[in-house]
Amino acid sequence: MSTEHSARNPGGLRSQWIADYQPQLRISEIGKLAAIGDGIAWIEGLPSAAMDQILRFENGSEALVFHLGSKRIGAILLGQEDGLAAGAAAHLTGRRLDIGVGDGFLGRVVDPLGNPLDGGPQPQFNRRRPLEVSSPPITARDFVRRPLLSGSKMVDTMIPIGKGQRQLIIGDAGTGKSSLAMDTLIAQKGSDVLCVYVLISQKRSAVIATIETLRRAGVLDISCVVVAEATTTPGLKFLAPFAGCALAEEWMWSGRDVLVVYDDLTTHARAYRELSLLLRRPPGREAYPGDVFYLHARLLERSTCLAARYGSGSMTALPIVETEQGEIAAYIPTNLISITDGQIYLDPALYARGFLPAIDITRSVSRIGGKAQLPAIKAEAGRMKLDFLQFLELEVFTRFGSRLEAGVDAKIRRGRLLRELLKQERLAPLSPEQQLAWLVAYNEGAFDALAGAAVQARLASLLHKAAAGGPGLAAGRDAWRDAVAGWLREAGDEPPA
Ligand SMILES: Nc1ncnc2c1ncn2[C@@H]1O[C@H](COP(=O)(O)OP(=O)(O)OP(=O)(O)O)[C@@H](O)[C@H]1O
Ligand SMILES: [Mg+2]
Repeated sequence: MSTEHSARNPGGLRSQWIADYQPQLRISEIGKLAAIGDGIAWIEGLPSAAMDQILRFENGSEALVFHLGSKRIGAILLGQEDGLAAGAAAHLTGRRLDIGVGDGFLGRVVDPLGNPLDGGPQPQFNRRRPLEVSSPPITARDFVRRPLLSGSKMVDTMIPIGKGQRQLIIGDAGTGKSSLAMDTLIAQKGSDVLCVYVLISQKRSAVIATIETLRRAGVLDISCVVVAEATTTPGLKFLAPFAGCALAEEWMWSGRDVLVVYDDLTTHARAYRELSLLLRRPPGREAYPGDVFYLHARLLERSTCLAARYGSGSMTALPIVETEQGEIAAYIPTNLISITDGQIYLDPALYARGFLPAIDITRSVSRIGGKAQLPAIKAEAGRMKLDFLQFLELEVFTRFGSRLEAGVDAKIRRGRLLRELLKQERLAPLSPEQQLAWLVAYNEGAFDALAGAAVQARLASLLHKAAAGGPGLAAGRDAWRDAVAGWLREAGDEPPA
């Protein structure tokens, strides 16, 4: 009866609701902006604020709670400072910081909050992911057993990386760290690996050059670039790798393989230090806050290879760290070395001598990638690596002009040849078939009588022939030896270029 009445008379329902309404005391905290500057807001009030929560100011701009003091809380501004002044009211939203994720971000350049920086529209997404989550539990993880091919002769043969591995790229300024990371990303072209490149605190010119390189190499479509430029606030620089990680996580949990580059974590640690100093936290070793280790560990722990029942996705991480005068024992580099599964060390002396990429094999290691290396390449690379390491040891003696035994002389000649063979230009990743071809040719002594430019010419023609694929990776060694001999013979018949 009454429903009939209210359906015909909606006004009656409203008056009923008003009649039933009991005014109650509802407590809502309102904080007050006490000070603002350097991308940090200090707020008084809001006693129930918790770390990592989002606050909203009366003008609609937002900030992330980052420091809880007894009188004030410190928050990282997520937008512009303009339009905010002391005295503005602030509310807790109860939300955590998250970012839109998904395929809409492929081919896009975004800031750490997911806003486009490439002049395009806002990327489309159906899901958001928190920037901070705990890493996958051990039960959800699988062993690293599939290779992530970098296309680099030195890396794929001697320091192999597996999908889900965390491999540090470490070296002084200008030794080719970013180039190596970019080349690894470019080598993913045509595979089903998706990429995230995080640029932290780099100059605009460097940012544009990176994006252009990726675009020209045709891999921007399979990548998302997250940028926190040098001129942006320390808060956004701090958030950048976590945003990149969240984007990568979405793809990993949907069963895809992802490669994420953090370029670089030295500047990230600096941004964190700056943030901590602005928030007046006590500094620790080398003026970094004590929890910077935990911060990077938390970030890199999120890279892994998921077990089959979670879709077998993977996130391979290439964090980059810059050293000063080769000092790998400094605070941030030692932390990162202990967090990662290996490192690729780039040496300024090798760089200066023109041995590029300037990877110092004696100080580089991959602790788990060997298990994922392609068996055919692993079999051929073993002897080559031994030859090279022996040579590097012996080379020291040659500098003193000491007399060498006959056998030693041959080893040094082979080592010098290898050093020539291992040189590699940028933007020229090798396929696994090409890797196998040059390794077999080397092990068969095909380069032994050559030196300098003649080595390069023979190598180039061999790689050109092997680009078509050859007998296939599963073919036995004999098939490869014959194929390589055939290619070299054909090349020998051709007039030199
Ligand atoms: N394999 C290579 N062949 C030729 N040139 C290279 C190679 N690798 C790097 N370079 C050159 O070396 C220079 C420095 O490289 P890159 O910018 O990658 O170094 P970086 O260590 O990232 O430097 P920064 O410390 O400034 O970030 C660049 O001009 C790059 O083109
Ligand atoms: Mg760089």
